[in-house]
Amino acid sequence: MTGALITLDRERRVNGWSEGAARLTGWQAAEVVGRSIDELRADDDEESWLDRDGSQLALSDVTTELRDENGDLAGFAIHLRAPGDSQLLLGRLIESEEAERRRLAADLHDDSLQAIIATRMRLQILLDRFEGDDRLADDELSDLKQLDATVRAAIERMRRLLFDLRPAVLDSHGLGAAVNTHLDQLRAEEPVETRLIERTETELPHGRRAIAYRAIREALANVRKHARATQVEVTLHQDQDGLTATIADDGVGFDASDAALSEGRPRGLDFARERVEAAGGSFQIDSARGRGTTVELRVPAASDA
Ligand SMILES: Nc1ncnc2c1ncn2[C@@H]1O[C@H](COP(=O)(O)OP(=O)(O)OP(=O)(O)O)[C@@H](O)[C@H]1O
Ligand SMILES: [Mg+2]
Repeated sequence: MTGALITLDRERRVNGWSEGAARLTGWQAAEVVGRSIDELRADDDEESWLDRDGSQLALSDVTTELRDENGDLAGFAIHLRAPGDSQLLLGRLIESEEAERRRLAADLHDDSLQAIIATRMRLQILLDRFEGDDRLADDELSDLKQLDATVRAAIERMRRLLFDLRPAVLDSHGLGAAVNTHLDQLRAEEPVETRLIERTETELPHGRRAIAYRAIREALANVRKHARATQVEVTLHQDQDGLTATIADDGVGFDASDAALSEGRPRGLDFARERVEAAGGSFQIDSARGRGTTVELRVPAASDA
């Protein structure tokens, strides 16, 4: 199963470097894209990877050739993983990243956002006061209104950032409620009918809930961007073993085997799959041109489930 994905062009130069690859090797995508993969390996030993200080990393990899529609070599894909309990390790890393996001979102919410909101309230009190009399000249008053609009926009941006970092509704009201906010948004933007079928006995633990949420959000973002669907149905089943979710649309569909390779760089669905699999889950795409798309994913409640 995937731990991390690296893609190479025909000359074995890196052109795709997933977040997982950055985590496992310490190299960031920007540092390695365009370089020959052989510079990152010890000698010709395929199983031997070097970190930035030149010391060896215990990683194993599987390389597959990528071919274009004529069957010509287009490049390579390397699945990289730490040996042994790599899935477990990666899963823990992702969960701790989620915990970190949650903390950061809570801090920003309680501190910075509250401070800006308080500032705006005082501004409005001032505005109310000055609007009623003529102590301020018109242009001064309009400056003040301008300031108020700027602060209001900053609050909006901050709320969006926080939602992106970690939607509070996910922790307070659960996965179904968080998914619902995205369905509401989808309906507001697209002429599409949506349905959520939910059976929740218990919610996933916070870290895993966020992993599942991000995968579902990616599938829904794809519906908005690519599907041109008239109907979207999401099912969520959660019990003490874990979550099973499907996101099904009746849109244009695509050839899943093509799309994964087309640009050689991992994209939304690859990242979603990587995170879900790192949590010990599974991720499947069922799609064909003209027949809509169904994404099915499963996230167990614990790594050994
Ligand atoms: N629900 C869908 N309906 C139709 N086509 C889809 C759907 N989901 C994915 N695709 C196709 O699969 C491709 C890969 O999807 P993926 O989410 O990995 O990347 P992306 O959406 O193009 O880019 P990113 O997610 O990084 O913004 C898309 O470009 C699109 O062609
Ligand atoms: Mg996408």
